[in-house]
Amino acid sequence: MNDFVFHSPTKFVFGRGYVDRTGTEMKQLGFEKVLVVYGQGSVERTGTLERVLASLDEAGITYVEAGGARPNPEVTFVREAIELARTHEVTGILAVGGGSSIDAAKAVSFGVPYDGDVWDFFAQKKPIEECLPLAVVLTLPAAGSEGSGSCVVSNDAENRKLGVSGDVFRPRLAIMDPELTFTLPAYQTAAGITDMIAHVCERYFSGVGAVPLTDGIACSIIRTLMSEAPKVLANPNNYDARANIMWAGTLAHNDLAGCGRSLSPTVRAGGWESHALEHELSAHHTEVTHGAGLAVVMPAWMRHVWRHDTKRFLSFARDVFGIEPEEGYESHRDAVYDAVTSAIKELQNFFGSIPKPVG
Ligand code: NZQ
Ligand code: ZN
Repeated sequence: MNDFVFHSPTKFVFGRGYVDRTGTEMKQLGFEKVLVVYGQGSVERTGTLERVLASLDEAGITYVEAGGARPNPEVTFVREAIELARTHEVTGILAVGGGSSIDAAKAVSFGVPYDGDVWDFFAQKKPIEECLPLAVVLTLPAAGSEGSGSCVVSNDAENRKLGVSGDVFRPRLAIMDPELTFTLPAYQTAAGITDMIAHVCERYFSGVGAVPLTDGIACSIIRTLMSEAPKVLANPNNYDARANIMWAGTLAHNDLAGCGRSLSPTVRAGGWESHALEHELSAHHTEVTHGAGLAVVMPAWMRHVWRHDTKRFLSFARDVFGIEPEEGYESHRDAVYDAVTSAIKELQNFFGSIPKPVG
């Protein structure tokens, strides 16, 4: 097991109806006046925003609203929200939504105390040392941004979509109420599950040898997602399945599933090739949903690289799908080929079995 630093400072408050605790929990952590960042209308339609704002009022937290973060959030929105935060002198940020709202809010949180343009952090990989404290109310389990030290923002003028990393802007608080996800369309549910599996796989195939505890956590997350997916797709109001998926999304990307698998203690485990390829796709086609892009890229990436780490891919085949090389092949090599490619096919079939965009 390689050396690692696991830094997960987020307080996760997880349960039915817990969205109404947002204000009290934030107050306890010292939030006083916040910018509330959200997306393009879902939280208004579902009533989530109303409940969040009511709980802020009750706790005596004042706020200014910045709605309109789009999927694959864009830097122009972030710049405008930074100006709003400065004008109103807020001292904290609250994101209400999925990964796009949370990432927009993260960029605002480190953009406010910075003198230059927030895009410098993405383009020049400037280290992020300072930010306003951030809380989130998660409505879409997918990106894992509620617990991650990552933030991904697009720049349409430059056709770029870039990520930055840093522990300083990990959320202080994540309110996770699985009932908020009952309203998710099947397509977003499926894209979210695909993204979570990809987060685990990027770390699992990091090129480092086996780490039994971490590998067990990783494979359990994938198996759980594959068994819970059909349940929520059959019944979107299945609380337990929604809850398992929501928590899986956090554990898939808060770095727990990569402990001991990184080449350097301060760097996230994995090469993140499929994510890099998908980010290029959605930079040029901003309508591409991140998880849907990954469903196309990841199996292709696996087929391209598996021969470089056959042992690892055989472990994946066995521990996720119960597939082992069989007897009766002319050579062991053929048996290995069949086992690994069957596992990749199984994964691809799973991605294909859950909803995709029409057309
Ligand atoms: O914009 P609104 O109206 O809120 O609607 C959203 C959006 O259209 C909707 N939605 C969210 N919660 C809902 C809901 N609709 C009904 N009921 C609810 N409860 O779902 C749509 C997609 O939302 P979005 O936030 O874009 O999805 P996701 O959470 O998948 O986030 C994707 C973004 O996160 C980045 C991706 O690249 C992409 O930009 N990622 C961020 C990461 C991180 N910060 O750690 C890691 C990931 O690998 C990823 O790159
Ligand atoms: Zn992702």
